[in-house]
Amino acid sequence: MAVLGIESSAHTFGVGISENGKILANSKRMYNITASGMIPSRVAEFHASNAKGVIEEAMASAGIGFSEISAISYTKGPGLGPCLRIGQLAALTLAERLNVPVYPVNHAVGHIKITEHLSGIKDPLAVYVSGGNSQILGAVDKPFRHYNVYGETLDIGVGNMLDNYARAAKLNPAWGSTVAKVAENGSYVGMPYTVKGMDFTFTGLLTNAIKMLESNPVKDVSYSIQETAFSMIAEAAERAMLLTRNNGIILCGGVAQSKRLQEILRAMSLSHGSKFFVAPNEYNADNGAMIAYVGELMHKGGKRVKESELTIMQRYRVDEVDLSWH
Ligand code: FE2
Repeated sequence: MAVLGIESSAHTFGVGISENGKILANSKRMYNITASGMIPSRVAEFHASNAKGVIEEAMASAGIGFSEISAISYTKGPGLGPCLRIGQLAALTLAERLNVPVYPVNHAVGHIKITEHLSGIKDPLAVYVSGGNSQILGAVDKPFRHYNVYGETLDIGVGNMLDNYARAAKLNPAWGSTVAKVAENGSYVGMPYTVKGMDFTFTGLLTNAIKMLESNPVKDVSYSIQETAFSMIAEAAERAMLLTRNNGIILCGGVAQSKRLQEILRAMSLSHGSKFFVAPNEYNADNGAMIAYVGELMHKGGKRVKESELTIMQRYRVDEVDLSWH
């Protein structure tokens, strides 16, 4: 019996199907972000008009019928309200028609769990980096089983920072991956570096980098902002790793696709004799498979969900999630 999961927290409408931890399908369509950025109501409209198509696509690629779906899961949050709402409605409607249970999933738990599953490392330290988030987490049992946040950004996510910088530097498309390309032949120029214990901040770095564009080549500023931000994350992760003595490090979330961040964290982990794992890009970008996989864990773990929990939560912190179903 398989679980179908729906992800719609931001620009991606994704549908995944998981059966005994095996990903049978991971279909998605992505809203094309233009210069105007992401206007939530427009992205939601995109999701609404693509929902049926992506669900059908996922079912076809899994090669199963609806009678083989034993549960539905969806992203409850965090994310953009109007976008989350479309995924939730699609999940509730489908579950009603199939007469199967529904499970609400935290987006960050999705990223971490699918990566942990693919890594084969038990209870690793997770470095979760995306547009809106940058956190270092590990599972703990007290006062209840949950992800403890050892360190995190005190202002904006690293992905957001790189996108904002890319826009200011007039890079096209204005994304972190473009910053990485421009940075390839750059040299280092001094930047503010802020790590406080296992927390870090990015706005000072961003403001400074934008100012430095006035008098430095864009390749040098791009190289330096990227190196500084990733080194800050690596320093905080190293500290958390030495504190927790976890079994290894996993890197997940949208920014985990960065080859340079992977390289820095891999080198840091290996220097301590620790394992390091990063999933293929399709699982680091937003996807339905991770939501389906967590839905399956909840379903098999006997998680009981009240109807009043089947809501959306724009600010749904990962450390609020009770993992006792795992
Ligand atoms: Fe994500």
